[in-house]
Amino acid sequence: MLLKSTRTLSEMSPVLLDKNVSGSSPVYWVFSNVSKKWENMTVISPRSFGEEFPKTFGHYHTSSNSIERYKLLCGQGILLMQKRKFVDDDWSPENIERICFVELMPGDEIEISVEWGHSWSNIGTEPLITLDDWKDGHPPQDYSQIEKLGGMGYFLVNRNENATFIPNKNYKNLPTPEWLSASEFHN
Ligand SMILES: [Fe+2]
Repeated sequence: MLLKSTRTLSEMSPVLLDKNVSGSSPVYWVFSNVSKKWENMTVISPRSFGEEFPKTFGHYHTSSNSIERYKLLCGQGILLMQKRKFVDDDWSPENIERICFVELMPGDEIEISVEWGHSWSNIGTEPLITLDDWKDGHPPQDYSQIEKLGGMGYFLVNRNENATFIPNKNYKNLPTPEWLSASEFHN
């Protein structure tokens, strides 16, 4: 297993609710060559930035139409999923068709098709560890639309010990989010 990448707080600031947060502390680590079945392992620190839960940057897949499979190994995680809305085969990133907060329990797996942008939030007090089978790499354009819009469609924050979502104003006509378990989510 190899350490593939580390995202620091400063590198995350373009997609945070509070864009002024900065620092050299790692927010998450991605390891590669994990096993035959699983290509990557992501470890998200439980350390919050402001009231927002620690999370991954968020991305779409642009290099391949493959299905990605994730497994939550340990910790308490929510996968924010947003589905691209196509009009006449055209997609403008600020338009989203569906948006889901999917809560996974350790051992849960989920499949993601190419239409869905996705980002993990760690809502627990220990590291969140996930596995995925994505082998097709991440060109910069996988992250660029999320970065341009200042994050995913909603920010997940800790308000009075409750996970609460705050809309990202850069999106148009955001759908009301659906709260689902892993078995309730369907692409
Ligand atoms: Fe992915």
